[in-house]
Amino acid sequence: MLKVKNLSVAYGRIQVVRGASFFVEPGQIVGIVGESGSGKSTMLKSLAGLLEKHGQVMGGEAFYEGEDLLKLSEKRLRKLRGKEIAVVFQHPELSLDPLWKIGKTYYESVRIHRLLSRKEADAEAEKLFEGLHLENPRRILESYPFELSGGMCQRAAIAIAIANSPRLLLADEPTSALDVTIQKQVIDTMLELRKQFGTSIVVVSHNMGVIAAMADLVGVMKQGELVEWGRKEQVLYNPKHPYTRELICAIPKIRGSGLEAKKGMEDGSAGKEGPHGI
Ligand SMILES: Nc1ncnc2c1ncn2[C@@H]1O[C@H](COP(=O)(O)OP(=O)(O)OP(=O)(O)O)[C@@H](O)[C@H]1O
Ligand SMILES: [Mg+2]
Repeated sequence: MLKVKNLSVAYGRIQVVRGASFFVEPGQIVGIVGESGSGKSTMLKSLAGLLEKHGQVMGGEAFYEGEDLLKLSEKRLRKLRGKEIAVVFQHPELSLDPLWKIGKTYYESVRIHRLLSRKEADAEAEKLFEGLHLENPRRILESYPFELSGGMCQRAAIAIAIANSPRLLLADEPTSALDVTIQKQVIDTMLELRKQFGTSIVVVSHNMGVIAAMADLVGVMKQGELVEWGRKEQVLYNPKHPYTRELICAIPKIRGSGLEAKKGMEDGSAGKEGPHGI
C-alpha cells in the first residue's frame, strides 16, 4: 500500500532523514520509534506533503497505490489528505478548531468530500464515536475542545480524521501529550480503527512501549537513519542494533502487547536472555 524507499529530507543544508526505507501493507500498523530529533516527524510530514517551506525532499520515493507521494502536486496531495490519507498530530489542537464545537469540525471535514446535511453528519458522527467506544458521543459533539479532556480531544480528533474512511492514517506522537492511563485509551481507539475499517496506520512515537502495544512492524530511527526494521517480535526479541536494545530496556513492561516475556519478566530474574528478559 505504501512503499518508502531511500527517503532523504533536509532543512536547508542539514539532512535530517537519510535513506529511510519501509513499507505498510493493507491493515498493518507500522510503528516508528526513536529519540527526540531523530527525524520521525520530518519523515511523516514529507509523506503527507506537509513539510515546512524550507524543508525539502532530497531523494527517494514513496509509492502509495502506484503514485509517488513525493512527486505529487499540492492539489493532488490536498485531495488525498483527508480522504485517502489522514494525519493526526501530537496536540489535538492542531486538528481541532478551538472555536468550533466538535460536531461542526466533523461536519466541515466530511462536507468537502460528500454532500450531506449537518443533521446527517451529526448522526453519522454519533455512530462513529459510539463504535469507537467514546463515551457520550452526543455530548462530545456539542462540546468545544476546551470543554473536553486532552485524551478525549485526541480520540475525537482521531475519529474525525477517519470520517472519510481513509485507507492510511499517519499519526505523529498521538499519545505523547497524554498521561499513561489515557494513552491506553487512545491506543485502543486506533486498534479499533484497524479492526473495524482495516485502516493501515503509521504511528510515530519516542516511546517503545506505545509502539510495542500497537505495531505489527517496527522501525527504529536514530539521527535520521532507520537503523532497524522488521516485525515487532523480531525487533523486540532479537534486536540487531544496540540502540534498539537501549529503547527496549527503557520499557518497564510490555503488557498487553502479547509480548510479555516468558521467563524472568515478572520475577526480575531477567538478564541472561536480553534486556528485561525479552
Ligand atoms: N522546521 C524545521 N526547520 C529546521 N529544522 C527542523 C525543523 N523541524 C525539525 N528540525 C530539525 O530536524 C531534526 C529532526 O526533527 P524532527 O522533528 O523530525 O524529529 P523527531 O524525531 O520528530 O523529534 P521529536 O521526538 O522531538 O518530535 C531535528 O534536528 C530538528 O531540530
Ligand atoms: Mg516529532
